[in-house]
Amino acid sequence: MHLPTLGMTSLVLSLLVLAAVGVAARRNKVLLVSMDGFRWDYVKTISTPNLDRLAGLGTRAEYINNTFCTKTFPSHYSVATGLYEESHGIIGNVMYDPEFNETFSPRTRESKWWNDGEPIWITAVRNGLKSATYFWPGSEVKIRGLRPTKYKNYSSVDVQKQIDNVTDWLKGDIDIAVMYTPQPDKAGHKFGPNSRELREKVQEMDSAVGYLLDMLEEKELASVVNLVLTSDHGMTEIDFQKKRIEIASLVNLSDIVRKSDKGPLMHITPVEGKLESVYQALSKSDKMTVYKKEDIPEYWHYKNNRRVMPILCVADEGWSILWDKDDLINKTDRGNHGYDNRLTSMKPLFFAAGPDIRKNHTCQPFLSVDIYSLLCTLLEINPAPNNGSLERVRNFIVKPKPQTANLTNNGTYMFPSAVLLSLTLFVFLVFDFL
Ligand SMILES: *[C@@H]1O[C@H](CO)[C@@H](O)[C@H](O)[C@H]1NC(C)=O
Ligand SMILES: *[C@@H]1O[C@H](CO)[C@@H](O)[C@H](O)[C@H]1NC(C)=O
Ligand SMILES: *[C@@H]1O[C@H](CO)[C@@H](O)[C@H](O)[C@H]1NC(C)=O
Ligand SMILES: *[C@@H]1O[C@H](CO)[C@@H](O)[C@H](O)[C@H]1NC(C)=O
Ligand SMILES: *[C@@H]1O[C@H](CO)[C@@H](O)[C@H](O)[C@H]1NC(C)=O
Ligand SMILES: *[C@@H]1O[C@H](CO)[C@@H](O)[C@H](O)[C@H]1NC(C)=O
Ligand SMILES: *[C@@H]1O[C@H](CO)[C@@H](O)[C@H](O)[C@H]1NC(C)=O
Ligand SMILES: *[C@@H]1O[C@H](CO)[C@@H](O)[C@H](O)[C@H]1NC(C)=O
Ligand SMILES: [Zn+2]
Repeated sequence: MHLPTLGMTSLVLSLLVLAAVGVAARRNKVLLVSMDGFRWDYVKTISTPNLDRLAGLGTRAEYINNTFCTKTFPSHYSVATGLYEESHGIIGNVMYDPEFNETFSPRTRESKWWNDGEPIWITAVRNGLKSATYFWPGSEVKIRGLRPTKYKNYSSVDVQKQIDNVTDWLKGDIDIAVMYTPQPDKAGHKFGPNSRELREKVQEMDSAVGYLLDMLEEKELASVVNLVLTSDHGMTEIDFQKKRIEIASLVNLSDIVRKSDKGPLMHITPVEGKLESVYQALSKSDKMTVYKKEDIPEYWHYKNNRRVMPILCVADEGWSILWDKDDLINKTDRGNHGYDNRLTSMKPLFFAAGPDIRKNHTCQPFLSVDIYSLLCTLLEINPAPNNGSLERVRNFIVKPKPQTANLTNNGTYMFPSAVLLSLTLFVFLVFDFL
């Protein structure tokens, strides 16, 4: 006679336990967005109501410290991998590898250039999650034998279309989506960081943020998706006509075997035996700092890579290192980046909001290499070795979560889930059959 009651009790208990399993095992999702060249302080001088709205919903840093050099590919790969540039090996948008005897450009898709880092979309897949990328440097490359679950080849596409697709993916089975927009960088280069055109482009990107927040709400993702919005670098005024450093006016060009990059910095390999004389000659310029490779400052975490050449020239802010008097002489760009990452003009913005992010909070500036650890923590997966620190971002993560060490390799709560499931079965069996 008691059996039906006990059966009911056990059913209720079982359901409660199962609900607990459901809660304990729920893993929120992540959307990582980079808006190229979005300088941290644009929001101070330009009206950006949607970023203000985002700030209220979550946490912002006044700025973050990116990696040197402050170029698009290197900086983005540092965000994605948590590694300094010397460690992930993408030390420029262009570079020469003496071992490969080949030159890299942003179009290079060969794995061998990228394999020193493990970007978040690969870490996710390696941990059994599903990732999707809608543009990001390196996202179209097979890295360490893996690809994101879904990816797009770079092309020109409307940002709203990207947002529509990315939010659809997150509504589906994608755990982490990554998205990159080429603006406001393009406008910054062409018209300069203080131009009306740049201001308008920033407002356009701010509207895109508003559209994204609306889509997250409309698709009922706001309570499930942790949004992280950042950038790769800032932007400063330049003048290719008036602020030029011409290598040809400093050294005999036949003393140089090879060069790489230009503008804010230039790598130079002198002819055998000419290192000292070329170094001395270049050092006469008072508009740039010239380093022998071994003397490149430690705090840049840049020099320990074979792709860094024996001499590195870094221009003073706003100056451009060019080859000779014709180089870019008729180019009318008004903005550039790539300079010393300690300059305030080179720093990017940071915003985050979502179920596991502290609300209406401003955190202390941290490092762009910390973002990878933040993302792994939000996704509850084990990070690959990296240079970031969770300590600097922990204060705005509100997720009650176990130590990463308690997680299994595939990143699920195997242990607690198994225990709770056994408990459910136990409850069921005991109450029904005793
Ligand atoms: C490097 O490649 C160039 C052609 O791209 C070739 O001329 C040169 O001999 C190669 N150097 C070495 C050391 O293999
Ligand atoms: C990207 O382009 C490569 C080379 O053209 C092609 O093989 C690949 O299928 C493309 N991937 C996607 C997702 O479109
Ligand atoms: C993106 O969204 C459009 C419009 O809904 C759809 O036609 C397209 O297939 C989607 N693309 C991807 C890659 O999901
Ligand atoms: C540059 O160096 C080459 C080879 O050493 C030499 O022939 C030439 O005269 C030099 N030019 C100048 C302007 O010194
Ligand atoms: C730059 O423009 C001037 C004037 O149009 C022209 O004479 C000159 O050849 C151009 N220089 C280069 C390097 O294109
Ligand atoms: C960020 O960089 C600035 C110099 O630009 C430095 O003063 C500050 O200590 C750095 N912050 C962190 C967290 O490293
Ligand atoms: C956000 O914080 C600011 C102070 O930092 C406070 O004035 C404001 O009322 C807060 N807004 C909300 C919605 O909590
Ligand atoms: C950065 O991390 C990599 C991978 O763990 C490591 O090899 C390297 O020594 C680290 N760099 C610094 C400066 O700690
Ligand atoms: Zn960029």
